[in-house]
Amino acid sequence: MSVRALVVDPTAPGAVRLAEVSDPTPGPGQVLVAVSHASLNYGDLNDARSGRVPEGAVLGSDAAGVVVQAAADGSGPAVGTRVVALTSGAFAERVAIDVGALAEVPKALDLARAVALPVAAVAALRSLRAAGLGPDKTVLVTGASGGVGRFAVQLAARAGAHVIASVGSAARGKGLAEAGADDVLIGLEGLRRPVDVVIDSVGGPQLVAAWNLLSPGGSVQSRLDLRGTRGLSAVRDRRPGQVPDLLRRRRRRRRGPRVSHRAGRRGCPHRRDRLARILGPLRRGLQGPA
Ligand SMILES: NC(=O)c1ccc[n+]([C@@H]2O[C@H](COP(=O)([O-])OP(=O)(O)OC[C@H]3O[C@@H](n4cnc5c(N)ncnc54)[C@H](OP(=O)(O)O)[C@@H]3O)[C@@H](O)[C@H]2O)c1
Repeated sequence: MSVRALVVDPTAPGAVRLAEVSDPTPGPGQVLVAVSHASLNYGDLNDARSGRVPEGAVLGSDAAGVVVQAAADGSGPAVGTRVVALTSGAFAERVAIDVGALAEVPKALDLARAVALPVAAVAALRSLRAAGLGPDKTVLVTGASGGVGRFAVQLAARAGAHVIASVGSAARGKGLAEAGADDVLIGLEGLRRPVDVVIDSVGGPQLVAAWNLLSPGGSVQSRLDLRGTRGLSAVRDRRPGQVPDLLRRRRRRRRGPRVSHRAGRRGCPHRRDRLARILGPLRRGLQGPA
């Protein structure tokens, strides 16, 4: 039996095409999910074009649907459970998924909404956690109109931070004040006050400008693919190094900023916990306690 899927094809427009692939057989610790919803992230199409995902492989990371076959070892959700997952090969009608890579979706939450959470909301949550968010902090979110940015604005606001959302145009800033942004700016023009945390989705000159706004000890977190890394986390020291060094990861200088890089962590054991952390507040309602 086969299922329909979106697969990588370098010769197709966007390097993606619809294809029939073999119906997956769940391995140990995996459930089979009938996927009814998928969410397209910026990184998915990048993956297709980059050559990182082999030709013919199923694309996608965010999927939601119903468990149609439980894990043979009894772990994970039962048949009929509605789930959302962060997994490779998500864009297929049926996907075998590690039980550690999915979370049960509360009844009150539409799968169409839940499926937007894994990549973007977990990235935002991880970035804010890495930055050490507190209620007295000022957080600048660049690319705040994007997937990661909008979740970062909401999560930082819920944590009690003062949130400055930077966007490319007034039209793209719509809804961000309602999402919790205290200030919505076009670019970074006119921003003079120091910030404690930068959550970056833009990179380039805007990341450099944002770095220069950081207070001593402030932290920048970017999920961008910077020179082959899958993100960057840096703390501005009291004696900051030159900004370009921030992006030249192999040249760590004594007095330069402390920089660390994350590899992709698809097998991360805490992923389910992060999904649950995102889904928990939603289950209690967006206005409920964090
Ligand atoms: N490593 C990971 O785990 C991970 C996870 C998630 C995302 N990411 C990466 O993080 C980045 C953001 O992801 P996303 O899903 O949020 O992407 P997205 O939805 O496309 O958002 C990107 C945002 O950046 C803005 N932007 C881009 N160039 C700009 C510029 N020159 N000036 C001002 N704004 C600019 C866009 O503004 P407009 O809305 O005006 O176009 C958009 O709001 C991507 O590079 C993605 O690959 C990595």
